[in-house]
Amino acid sequence: MSGGQTNANGPLSGRLIVLGITGSIAAFKAPEIVRALRAAGADVQALLTPAATKFVSPLTLRTLTGHAVDADLLDLLPDGRIGHIVAADSADAILVAPATAQWLGAMAGGLAGDAVTAACLATTAPVVVAPAMDGEMWAHPATATNAARLTNDFGYTIVPPESGALASGSSGVGRLPEPATLVDALVRAIGSAPIREPSEARRPPLVPAGDLSGRRVVITAGGTEEPIDAVRILANRSSGRQGVALAEAARDRGADVVLIAARVAIPLPEGVGIVRVATVADLDAALRSALLPPPAGTSATPADLFIAAAAVSDFRMAGGPSREKLRRDGALTLHLEPTPDLLAGIAAALGPRAKRATKLIGFSAESGATKRAAEKLNAKDLDLIIANDVSAPGIGFESAENAVEILHVDGSTQRIGPAPKRVVADGILDQAVLLLSGATHA
Ligand SMILES: Cc1cc2nc3c(=O)[nH]c(=O)nc-3n(C[C@H](O)[C@H](O)[C@H](O)COP(=O)(O)O)c2cc1C
Repeated sequence: MSGGQTNANGPLSGRLIVLGITGSIAAFKAPEIVRALRAAGADVQALLTPAATKFVSPLTLRTLTGHAVDADLLDLLPDGRIGHIVAADSADAILVAPATAQWLGAMAGGLAGDAVTAACLATTAPVVVAPAMDGEMWAHPATATNAARLTNDFGYTIVPPESGALASGSSGVGRLPEPATLVDALVRAIGSAPIREPSEARRPPLVPAGDLSGRRVVITAGGTEEPIDAVRILANRSSGRQGVALAEAARDRGADVVLIAARVAIPLPEGVGIVRVATVADLDAALRSALLPPPAGTSATPADLFIAAAAVSDFRMAGGPSREKLRRDGALTLHLEPTPDLLAGIAAALGPRAKRATKLIGFSAESGATKRAAEKLNAKDLDLIIANDVSAPGIGFESAENAVEILHVDGSTQRIGPAPKRVVADGILDQAVLLLSGATHA
């Protein structure tokens, strides 16, 4: 997975900036800093202290930078090299942002206990430090002495924290400056020095591009719900595990993923765009905005792939839900109406299979036979359908494992599982990759 193109004409074009992130609440701004550095043309490598990983995810930074993140001083890089030494030797500058009071002390004392201090100790490149902390912490003489040592004895540039609202709830001096201020400080610190390590092979390793790299993939997951009255819902037993596994697998293979999540029983993945929905109507609106062409004059690229893994309610209250809680006054008959078939609607709106840009993969929950799934594949004009056996114990809804049969338009099939849902997800994506490449399936 790569972080995409950088700006070839930016003031940091061709430079490698090592971004050291430490355990301040302001670490949540690190993705913004990465974006600003890349917009200025820099290749960015992230190093994190263990505390920083509690505030910002290495996965997000890996995705945004395109480089393996070094968050554990004692772990080697995927290619066997020592992360902080590679970073120290190839950086045009190291930016430590945000820098904690703890980190300023460790650095002032020369303690190489994390990847960020170790890289700073090991480099001859300029180091720019942006402290961020509570106002009293910044004003403490210990912090002031440590910061002064970094400037006076080590020649580091300190970008002082700004005044404003702090995460602690108070306000005062301690805020991390805006990314543009940090980029300016780096440009000044580097000056006209030649690029230190032009050879990509000697820079930190890039995460290899996956076979869905550059593809836009939309996936639905979980079960939709329909209100009956003010407190009750009609729902189904989908846990969303298969859809989430598909989103994670597509993300790890390099895709730009939007996960439209209905009721899901597990945590949603990081590193994908999330849209939350509840009812069929919500899902319909989300699908239309993610998959159908935007109004004339706007320029969004069409999705390459849509995988409809959500369990969509087949019925809802005719005439809408009761506004008030229904009373237990006697037997109750609910009048339900069928919901629209969203996948068929999207397929029809996108045009015939042979002409549309987006490949469509449906799921069909079956109890044994797959005849109905084959009929749906053709009736809805899909590219593939996944017949999901929800009848056998230990697979299907609510289970960690699944067993599916993939049905192709030409009548051929493949079986996957019983296997963990991630394995099933990768098996489905293998077929999707073949579809996207225009090749015949395996
Ligand atoms: C919610 C929370 C927010 C914190 N924010 C800051 C901060 O903004 N600045 C700071 O110096 N320390 C902050 N800390 C304390 C550091 O996380 C702590 O000192 C940690 O040991 C820093 O480790 P590191 O410098 O190795 O990353 C915070 C702690 C918590 C629990």
